[in-house]
Amino acid sequence: MAITDARSPGLTYHDLLDADTHGVNPTLRLDSVQDLGDHDIPVERYISREFHDLEVEKIWKRVWQMACREEDIPNVGDTVRYDIADISIVVLRSAPGEIKAFYNACLHRGRLLREEDGYCGGDTLRCPFHGFAWHLDGSLAEVPAAWDFPHVDPEADKWQLPEVMTSTWGGWVFVNMDPGAEPLADFIGDLAVHFDKWAQQDKYKSAHVARVFRCNWKVVQEAFSEAFHVSATHPQILVSIGDQNTKYDTWENFSRAISPGATPSPHLTWEPTEQDVFDALTDRRVDQEPVMEVPPGSTARAVAASLARDKLRSILGDEVETYCDAEMTDSIYYTLFPNFHPWAAFNRINYRFRPYGNDPDMSIMECVYLDPFEGERPPPAKITWLGPDDSWVEKAPELGNLARVFEQDTFNLPKVQAGLHTTQRSGVTLANYQESKIRHIHSLIDRWIAKP
Ligand code: FES
Ligand SMILES: [Fe+2]
Repeated sequence: MAITDARSPGLTYHDLLDADTHGVNPTLRLDSVQDLGDHDIPVERYISREFHDLEVEKIWKRVWQMACREEDIPNVGDTVRYDIADISIVVLRSAPGEIKAFYNACLHRGRLLREEDGYCGGDTLRCPFHGFAWHLDGSLAEVPAAWDFPHVDPEADKWQLPEVMTSTWGGWVFVNMDPGAEPLADFIGDLAVHFDKWAQQDKYKSAHVARVFRCNWKVVQEAFSEAFHVSATHPQILVSIGDQNTKYDTWENFSRAISPGATPSPHLTWEPTEQDVFDALTDRRVDQEPVMEVPPGSTARAVAASLARDKLRSILGDEVETYCDAEMTDSIYYTLFPNFHPWAAFNRINYRFRPYGNDPDMSIMECVYLDPFEGERPPPAKITWLGPDDSWVEKAPELGNLARVFEQDTFNLPKVQAGLHTTQRSGVTLANYQESKIRHIHSLIDRWIAKP
């Protein structure tokens, strides 16, 4: 059997789409399975300083990366600090309708210009150390004791703050340190077409949580790139997730997995009724009445989708009927190389994974919720930071039930890093289909590292 043909026996994702009660979004039908080989992924990619340095030089300094939401900097003078490895960038609203980004370093003696996000306090970026200041377009505005700096010509190019390219998509602001990089729209490619109907620019940031991990950024990212771990790590959700029915596809710079919801896992050793599935989905405890009875002849998927539509109706009106059951119930999770994971339809989740400073054994995972809103855009949520020992449930209640699931994922990850340091194998072995999103990222890493 060819690598690209391996599938879990039984129900396919297309079978589930065939049973949808609404017109299926054709995007969900798209199949794109590439042969990415079946070789091991070198362990050194996760643990070595040399490989981290290579990623910085060849990838982070050249690739488009999500820096913040447009709504994080609504007014002129608003700033967000975006750090990647040991590079710090200030993203700011430089004029109405204009966003710029600069390396976050004063051109006098090098102090960081901005430490915190927020309003810069006026029409300049002023260094707190000696007071050099730059206009929001990056031109030098003020040299304190200018008599002592006759050698500083404010008009000279070298006194302009070095700029980083910016672009936007879906309400997200991206930055790129490579002035010769292709336009963001070309880099994103068809991902924009996939998200056409799920317009993320029309949603607002309702939660933002960042947590530090004691493991490589790819170890965390890869734990959120497959449903293969669900049966061992999250057995409590198996009654209502078709983990092994997940559909995986890879395209140019992005990939997608779709894990069907409101359908039982093929791993279950018993056969739940549609009511059992619905009750599991709605977290029914034994002492509680069901949220709803699944009518005879109907399915948990159809009922769950219909309830989800009802919830959205006050905001979207009759437009809710244009969304199929799959869009209402399934986890449709995309990855844009190298580290941005927007989830589709009305799932609120978006992830970003990146190194924490220059340490290959440390990383940051962020979860941003996007929600639709009525009327005026609500203010975006402030970020909550969690340390490597903090509990999601205790410190990030804004994530709701997902915090419990994250707790289980978090438990594994530092232990993966420890195992990678001690393993006697030179590589990790991936499943051909269920781990194809991970293989896709590594094939792109290969490509970027090979670029001159
Ligand atoms: S280091 Fe910034 S003004 Fe001196
Ligand atoms: Fe998980």
